[in-house]
Amino acid sequence: MKDLFNKAKAVLPNSYSVYSNFKVAAALRLKNGEIITGVNVENASFGLTNCAERSALFTAYSQGYRKEDIKEMLITTEQTELISPCGACRQVMRELMPDDAKVHMTTVDGKTKTVENKDLLPFAFTENDL
Ligand code: THU
Repeated sequence: MKDLFNKAKAVLPNSYSVYSNFKVAAALRLKNGEIITGVNVENASFGLTNCAERSALFTAYSQGYRKEDIKEMLITTEQTELISPCGACRQVMRELMPDDAKVHMTTVDGKTKTVENKDLLPFAFTENDL
């Protein structure tokens, strides 16, 4: 997991968080070994902000990867306490990542908590409900 963490940490300065000053980075490991990163990108129209998790996933999908290609996601911040994905990200993660993909929440000073994607959003509305 150290390599995934290092990739996320490396892009943390790219976070465009001019309003919150709250930098977040996410790194996705694909089953082919490739690592795809994302950061939060804010907007003066606050609701249009894109979280790091969604940035990473949308980048992966833009490159042609799909759910079955994704192994795990790591999230990191400069904060001393762990953060977990927001509700909007959980909904997107549920559809775009496998249910059993591991989600690692980390801090730059070494705290880690790992859960499975499906446990972040119980009783989810999914593509199977349409
Ligand atoms: N944010 C993320 O990028 N991921 C999370 O899991 C929680 C929040 C961003 C959104 C916003 O740019 C900033 O952190 C403060 O909410």
